[in-house]
Amino acid sequence: MSAVRAFGPGRVNLIGEHTDYNDGLCLPFAIAAGITVEATAGPEGTIEAEALDLGERDGFALDDDDHADGWRAFVRGVVAELRRAGHALQPATLKISGDLPRGSGLSSSAALEVALALALLAHSGVEEPDRRELAKLCSKVENDWVGAQTGLLDQLAALCGQDDHAIRIDFRSLAIEPVALELGDWRLVTLDSGVEHTHAASGYNDRRRECREACERLGVDSLRDADPEAAARLPDPLDRRARHVIEENARVDEAVGALREHDLECLGELLDASHRSLRDLYEVSVPEVEETVERLRDAGAAGARIMGGGFGGAVLALLPPDARPPDGALEVRPGPAARVLA
Ligand code: GLA
Repeated sequence: MSAVRAFGPGRVNLIGEHTDYNDGLCLPFAIAAGITVEATAGPEGTIEAEALDLGERDGFALDDDDHADGWRAFVRGVVAELRRAGHALQPATLKISGDLPRGSGLSSSAALEVALALALLAHSGVEEPDRRELAKLCSKVENDWVGAQTGLLDQLAALCGQDDHAIRIDFRSLAIEPVALELGDWRLVTLDSGVEHTHAASGYNDRRRECREACERLGVDSLRDADPEAAARLPDPLDRRARHVIEENARVDEAVGALREHDLECLGELLDASHRSLRDLYEVSVPEVEETVERLRDAGAAGARIMGGGFGGAVLALLPPDARPPDGALEVRPGPAARVLA
């Protein structure tokens, strides 16, 4: 039987950080780099998988519900959740490869989840479900099998991104609106801080808890509904956490406006404002990230900010035409969404 291959892209979040799990707004895009999963027929009743970059292999029964660690958690989780959703999967041998550095803030996890899901479905001859539903399924894998209580940002960006566009996602309605990303001679780059962030072990889950507590005290379902004045009266640090979310949502729409008006200076200022808020109000930065931000500013960035869950990972910067990216910076552009490759 012939092989099928599916690709899951990494993602960059232009702005709108720590808003997805607060029913808020984000402006991510899928990038060209990502993870590819090749599926071929496997031995009866089993899933075999090989992570090519690690030189590791594993195999398990198709109906095995045991949890595992590392990349194996993703494979087992995706197989189990697809089956639970009623998809009849065929035995498969999977080969996983890619060009996204793990833990770098470009969401290699979501890229792997969506590539696994699309490869397994195509290999099994199952019609692709609605992409928002698939994003939720992949997010469940992240929450229940990998142990990170992340939101839906990464999976939706990977599955619903559009070439040449960022997408404005409203996490309350899951409405997605493409926004053309016309940068001319300007460039977006990411630069790794060198600190690997593992969500499960980091303060990410603490921030989610704090947001829930802020909601309970304010008597609202989500911080999307929080009144700024009431939020300012919350005890520290809940007041600052809520203020970040409220203002970050507003910055997403200001960024959409700046892009529509081709005002890239303004976009740069918004990235800086987002960074200050993530550093001082949401407190998800670390010294290595601050040094990385400084390096990008020294290189002439019009704006730079920590991206993703925080506590390490990558910094995103907007560089005007005359700025030279520092060594190690990766230029990022919007690419197409996750897909089965011909
Ligand atoms: C990580 C999570 C996302 C989102 C961001 C913060 O990337 O996976 O769901 O919460 O952090 O914006």
